[in-house]
Amino acid sequence: MFVSRGVLVLGVLLISAIGGRSESIPCKLKDEKHGKVCVCTADYCDYLDNPVLTEDNEWFLISSSKQGLRFSTTSDKFGTGEKVTVQDYVEPAPEAANGTILSRLLDKVVASAFTLESRESSITRTVTLRLNRTKTYQKMVGFGGSFTGAVSYLVENFKQSELSDHLYKSFYAEEGLGFNLMRVSIGGCDFDLEAWSYAEEEGNTLLSDMDELDERDVERVAQIKRLIEVSGVKNLLVKGAAWSAPPWMKTNSRWTGFGRLKRAYYQTWADYHLRWIKLMEDNGIPIWAISTGNEPLNGIFFMYFVKFMSMGWTPQTQAIWLNDYLGPTIRNSEFKDIILFGNDDQRYSFPHWFKMMNRTRPNSIDYLDGLALHWYWDEIFGNSFIEQTTEYVPDKIMIVSESCIGDKPWQAAAPLLGSWERAEKYARDYLLNIRLGFHGWIDWNIALDEVGGPNYVDNTVDAPVIVNTTTFEEFYKQPMFYAIGHFSKLVPEGSVRIDAVPSNVNLDSVAFLRPDNKIAAVLFNSGRADLDITLVDTVRGQFIVNVPAKSIHTLLYS
Ligand SMILES: *[C@@H]1O[C@H](CO)[C@@H](O)[C@H](O)[C@H]1NC(C)=O
Ligand SMILES: *[C@@H]1O[C@H](CO)[C@@H](O)[C@H](O)[C@H]1NC(C)=O
Ligand SMILES: *[C@@H]1O[C@H](CO)[C@@H](O)[C@H](O)[C@H]1NC(C)=O
Ligand SMILES: *[C@@H]1O[C@H](CO)[C@@H](O)[C@H](O)[C@H]1NC(C)=O
Repeated sequence: MFVSRGVLVLGVLLISAIGGRSESIPCKLKDEKHGKVCVCTADYCDYLDNPVLTEDNEWFLISSSKQGLRFSTTSDKFGTGEKVTVQDYVEPAPEAANGTILSRLLDKVVASAFTLESRESSITRTVTLRLNRTKTYQKMVGFGGSFTGAVSYLVENFKQSELSDHLYKSFYAEEGLGFNLMRVSIGGCDFDLEAWSYAEEEGNTLLSDMDELDERDVERVAQIKRLIEVSGVKNLLVKGAAWSAPPWMKTNSRWTGFGRLKRAYYQTWADYHLRWIKLMEDNGIPIWAISTGNEPLNGIFFMYFVKFMSMGWTPQTQAIWLNDYLGPTIRNSEFKDIILFGNDDQRYSFPHWFKMMNRTRPNSIDYLDGLALHWYWDEIFGNSFIEQTTEYVPDKIMIVSESCIGDKPWQAAAPLLGSWERAEKYARDYLLNIRLGFHGWIDWNIALDEVGGPNYVDNTVDAPVIVNTTTFEEFYKQPMFYAIGHFSKLVPEGSVRIDAVPSNVNLDSVAFLRPDNKIAAVLFNSGRADLDITLVDTVRGQFIVNVPAKSIHTLLYS
């Protein structure tokens, strides 16, 4: 009994090993304290070519799981009536160093049987997911990450250039996560080696010392150009945000603390933004968007907690600056089509921030094409903060412009290598905010070191890639990397969200109709049991797939 079950499992394993794998390079799994990471070195890094559907009724599934699947693939057809099972990752049986072939096989059989035993002890849940491509919602702008000074510093120290190419391709190539958005700081931010800005020369309101890129940006721009080249990203959309003006323009003459922009420099600060856009453009990086400034409330309410570069704004002062200075300066310039984002801060300021702006300067918010949100308080402040915002101003581009884990006192302010729980937190919040109407998402630092820096005030956090700074010869892709990828990889710019309704809470999902008329859907099983998903498409029919406990998937079909 024991052995025969095992032989069955062995058979399944052999079949799935022979079955249609693509040319792609699998993750090199490594056990770490909190779970599994994928290791990349100069000569090895995992990639997955995007699936090519050859027949109308074919479907394709990309899967990751707590157990150890990382972008593994399964495919079949609609309407066969047979359930397809996504096999979860199985730990390789310990090698018998000197046994006979028969005894090695027996070892495998016994190990597999144990796996089967524990799987069987859990029940299988079921859900029906209905997709309706004629019921449509927002059109997606895309997904991305941030190229901070910290990222630039780490890349600069890589021992081999092939390793930086792998980092770039892992995020921005089609065979990577297919990112198309990027956030950069205008001047410095906390993820830098020190506080800095352009135009630090006191009283130089003509900004004549801002006529070329800062040496830190010379390096960063060269790296971003290389990223564009090796990843082949077609339409990189770069969004800038300033953390603080140089101290001489501020009421407290410091980088941080309770300080605002002096009224006398409102025009200078608008000119500064225009000058930066021009410098970046002149150096080969066209800018897509800027925001009115990173986390304006840091310099008003939170200066006892926030030790890094910040500049305070109230909605009233920001309305005046935007309406009377920044807005006209940008709109009357050669860069008049730049997208302007407002707020760039947490949920608790939505939508009052915009209402108060409009009270100070009626129609000032017309200058804003979009609203940018940081996700950090999403779990505390409910969806109504966003729902009221999209009701108040329905036509703005909604972007999450910052997300990471480790910012809270109750979280480890450091990378947890291999943490699947952190991947799940990402999946949950992406699903939540996309369903609330967000058009895009830019994560924070694409890579950090083992302690979650460098950060000049030790405001360390986690990131989807962690670099080994002992050797600077390898980096680790966290489960978070794959969680983000399940959204970004098969949902290109221009995809439209469609109705995806699960019959119960066992499954969380969003789905999209892509510009090429294919359907992409994210399927998240956060439960401890495996799940039979019956997918029903109003046009295509249905199929049943069984997915393992604690797994996340991206489905593609025509
Ligand atoms: C099998 O390997 C073990 C440990 O590696 C060793 O002690 C033993 O002598 C080996 N047996 C044979 C038959 O080679
Ligand atoms: C799909 O959505 C459209 C538009 O909302 C609706 O008219 C239609 O009844 C829906 N189809 C199904 C099967 O729910
Ligand atoms: C902004 O204020 C003006 C003047 O009070 C008003 O006409 C307009 O409707 C307001 N806009 C929004 C989006 O509330
Ligand atoms: C980084 O590399 C060193 C040297 O190979 C190794 O000892 C260390 O465990 C690595 N760090 C991590 C987090 O894996």
